[in-house]
Amino acid sequence: MHVSFAASLIGLSCLSTLTSAVPFSFANDPTGEGYPTPNAQQLVQIETQAHGSIPNGPSPSSVSNDTVTSLQLIAFNEIFETAFFTSAIENITNNVEGYVFNEAEKDGILADLTTIRAQEELHTLFANTSLIALGATPVQTCEFMFPVTTLADAISLATVFTDIVLGTLPAIQQLLAVSGDAALIPGIGSVIGQEGEQNGGYRTFLDKIPSALPFLTAGTREFAFSALNQNFIVPGSCATDYIDLPVFEPLTVMTMAPIAAQAQTLAFEFPMCANGSAPDTSLYSLVYVNQQNLPVVEPLQNVTASESTDMMQFTAAFPYDGVTFGNGLTYALVVAGPTDGLTSASDVADITVYGPGLISIN
Ligand SMILES: *[C@@H]1O[C@H](CO)[C@@H](O)[C@H](O)[C@H]1NC(C)=O
Ligand SMILES: *[C@@H]1O[C@H](CO)[C@@H](O)[C@H](O)[C@H]1NC(C)=O
Ligand SMILES: *[C@@H]1O[C@H](CO)[C@@H](O)[C@H](O)[C@H]1NC(C)=O
Ligand SMILES: *[C@@H]1O[C@H](CO)[C@@H](O)[C@H](O)[C@H]1NC(C)=O
Ligand SMILES: *[C@@H]1O[C@H](CO)[C@@H](O)[C@H](O)[C@H]1NC(C)=O
Repeated sequence: MHVSFAASLIGLSCLSTLTSAVPFSFANDPTGEGYPTPNAQQLVQIETQAHGSIPNGPSPSSVSNDTVTSLQLIAFNEIFETAFFTSAIENITNNVEGYVFNEAEKDGILADLTTIRAQEELHTLFANTSLIALGATPVQTCEFMFPVTTLADAISLATVFTDIVLGTLPAIQQLLAVSGDAALIPGIGSVIGQEGEQNGGYRTFLDKIPSALPFLTAGTREFAFSALNQNFIVPGSCATDYIDLPVFEPLTVMTMAPIAAQAQTLAFEFPMCANGSAPDTSLYSLVYVNQQNLPVVEPLQNVTASESTDMMQFTAAFPYDGVTFGNGLTYALVVAGPTDGLTSASDVADITVYGPGLISIN
């Protein structure tokens, strides 16, 4: 099975309201372990399920403010992942349509997902506890929504959000080094490998080759925070403004998933209501970030504004070549301003207006 979620991820426009399934919440202790505030005994229970523990050595007693932001993003992302796997476990346990398996299959899948969930819980608790120890604002839980209704689609989606994490954590390592907080780098590295193991498992489940690319797609904190807020957080269900990162306006890939592995023209859409009227798109370009390669810049073509939906549509070339561009995760971003000097995902994030659109091939 080769499924891409590029077009089915929900790009929430500023007009949309949540109409889908009941949002996921931790309010009634769905894990049965007191998460996200387990007591000491519940923590041991989580660690037993996770087959290991939170690092028990000393953690830094002071870090830069930028590092606080990184730890907040990590906790914010990991609590989303915990919510996602808890919802999947509930669905399988309760034989929800799309999640029905025979008893033997069910036991195996639940054993794997319960372990992975406990590992995600410990990632969150480690980041959150570090924030509390540093006197910084810990991360609050939100209500979540997931744009999937079968286990195969859920695991496909997990490969996309795990790819996002796998590109974001190295960006965070670089920022930690720049901020003089190098002591945190090895721990983050251990989580990168851990999430990579998870992704190999998801890809195997989906009959894909375990490893997607020789060098995974670079990300940024801004792309990750925007993607989480745009796709998975119920708007208004929690404060997010204490995390010092922007949430860009959404960019939706309108070309139906799965996106074929070939050079083609893709269709995109973004909301124009941010400024009340159609923005001047003459300053805009579409930029793709794929692998660790230079960003690929394409002009917006055939730009149209739809007053009835308050959306602007455009098309742009997707110059897939299967080697230097296009396999694995690709971020698509609409940027404003000159694109001559772009060499990294971080350069792209600095001038992003809409995004990220998410494209996943292979
Ligand atoms: C972080 O800790 C605070 C304070 O205990 C708690 O309210 C919050 O739910 C925790 N968040 C996570 C994501 O663990
Ligand atoms: C770091 O954050 C704290 C709390 O928000 C603030 O008081 C302080 O001025 C910040 N320090 C720097 C160097 O920006
Ligand atoms: C669980 O099932 C509900 C109802 O179909 C669905 O809305 C939700 O996305 C599912 N959760 C996951 C993680 O697949
Ligand atoms: C809104 O307008 C401002 C000022 O003209 C511009 O800098 C910004 O990029 C616009 N935002 C969007 C989302 O178009
Ligand atoms: C732009 O629109 C024209 C007219 O509808 C069409 O012929 C052309 O193929 C479109 N170009 C792209 C790049 O989509």
